[in-house]
Amino acid sequence: MKLIKTKNYEEMSQKAANVVSSVVTLKPDCVLGLATGDTPVGMYRILAERNKKGDLDFKNIKTVNLDEYVGLSAEHPQSYQYFMNQNLYSKVNLSSNNTHIPDGLAKDPEQECKRYEELIYSLGGIELLVLGIGNNGHIAFNEPDDSFPKETHVVKLTEDTRRVNGRFFDSLDEVPYYAISMGMKSIMSARAIMLLASGEVKKKILYESIYGPITPMVPASVLQLHPNLLVITDQ
Ligand code: GLP
Repeated sequence: MKLIKTKNYEEMSQKAANVVSSVVTLKPDCVLGLATGDTPVGMYRILAERNKKGDLDFKNIKTVNLDEYVGLSAEHPQSYQYFMNQNLYSKVNLSSNNTHIPDGLAKDPEQECKRYEELIYSLGGIELLVLGIGNNGHIAFNEPDDSFPKETHVVKLTEDTRRVNGRFFDSLDEVPYYAISMGMKSIMSARAIMLLASGEVKKKILYESIYGPITPMVPASVLQLHPNLLVITDQ
């Protein structure tokens, strides 16, 4: 594991954007795994600026996102599809055929998980996977549990996660109870992983995740086993 400590959120975002930029430059047709949440917003902004200036080309890049709420359409402002449209897709020259997110409105969510898992492998696997971390140690929507879910699956969100993510919704009632999430096998199969964590609120869980025991009760702790893990955090 390599750990980079930065002064603040902006520097963390710059460093993260540098890593993504080098992968995109060296492998201009690779697959990026992408995350939602507040944490990567600054990184996306910087990537969009570089693309606009002509310094970074996403024309042949493919993206697969980690997760999506079950029941929210792409037009719902809290869906992850909407988030990605706003923060990245509409701002860079990614081709719409090349961006992938689980379909939260799929009639058969279990079948959608299967399709998504196969899609990741048919694209050739993930070159670089960007991750944030939930306050309870979740990555994507892999919640603390007795075992590590392996492949893309339907997950019941914990009340803690619903409450934390409820800050974006008008009321807690509107927060979905289920999501589709990549599993640990899908995540750990990425050739490189970059975990981003910002702010005091993430300090304890980040420490437990990268230095504590490896346990499904702290899902991010499994990342310690990845041979090519980069953690970027702010002080
Ligand atoms: C959500 C997402 C995660 C994300 C986490 C942290 O629950 N499913 O992929 O990492 O929140 O979000 P934030 O970056 O806003 O703290």
